[in-house]
Amino acid sequence: MGEGQVILVTGASSGVGKLCAQRLAERGHVVYGTSRRARDMEPRETGYRVLPMDVTDEQSVKETAEEILHASGRLDAVVNNAGIGLAGPVEQTSIEEAQALLETNLLGALRVCRQALPVMRGQRRGTIINISSLAGRVGLPFQGLYSATKFGLEGMSEALRLEVRRWGIRVVVIAPGDLCTEFTDNRRLASAWEGEGLYGEAMLRVLRRVEVDERGGPVPDRVAGLVVRVVEGRARRDWYSAGRIGQRLPVALRPFIPRRMYERALMWHYRV
Ligand SMILES: NC(=O)c1ccc[n+]([C@@H]2O[C@H](COP(=O)([O-])OP(=O)(O)OC[C@H]3O[C@@H](n4cnc5c(N)ncnc54)[C@H](OP(=O)(O)O)[C@@H]3O)[C@@H](O)[C@H]2O)c1
Repeated sequence: MGEGQVILVTGASSGVGKLCAQRLAERGHVVYGTSRRARDMEPRETGYRVLPMDVTDEQSVKETAEEILHASGRLDAVVNNAGIGLAGPVEQTSIEEAQALLETNLLGALRVCRQALPVMRGQRRGTIINISSLAGRVGLPFQGLYSATKFGLEGMSEALRLEVRRWGIRVVVIAPGDLCTEFTDNRRLASAWEGEGLYGEAMLRVLRRVEVDERGGPVPDRVAGLVVRVVEGRARRDWYSAGRIGQRLPVALRPFIPRRMYERALMWHYRV
């Protein structure tokens, strides 16, 4: 399908989602970008239509999906981008903190898919793009639960793709490496981690490395460009990585590298 598609981008108030929504709108698509803080956002400034949505809230997702359908009569593509980070040793991550992360990064995408799929099935076409992470392919030290949510998103996407292909619905995963966005400042810290003791020093070193990698990383230009090409049918693969080649290549080569060697390199990089 060419131009003029109706597209929902979740988490469009900053970073990846904002740039995706802007680029899609510039291409002439009808873009609905969502945020929990939609009231504070000015549509004229963003270039796309801003709607409220909290992906952890079933009712909020349903109401916004209905509003889009009411206004535009169809839904051609969804970009499940809303996400949050959590740093903390696995042992010191509380069940509540893990649940909050899952609610946003995995179940949030599920909630949106559950609203979008019946519409797309009726249209016998549609595109779902799930923004994962290279952390969804490699378990990152002190981001174990974040990795778990993204591994989950990868698995759900693989299964969903097989289930809905017969209705002409594509499910595409984009897994970025470290990017320079507000994600770094928005990342939560496990409340039981005190900066000292058992995991204190090790996690501080890792966190410093992660922040350097993210703040020095690219802006999400390439991710936004990929999203545009996927939506417009010019990128036909089911899975893409994006970001620095130095992060993408090791993930691509991982199946061919002995596990011990791979883990040692990872520990060296993060100074674990
Ligand atoms: N930055 C990176 O290095 C990186 C790397 C790989 C993957 N990613 C992934 O890329 C995606 C976007 O991250 P980003 O880097 O653009 O981070 P960001 O600048 O912090 O943006 C996150 C977006 O998610 C939204 N959001 C968070 N919780 C939400 C909720 N409960 N309901 C609805 N929206 C919610 C935020 O909107 P409001 O707060 O306005 O609601 C915001 O627009 C995430 O899925 C992230 O995991 C990021």
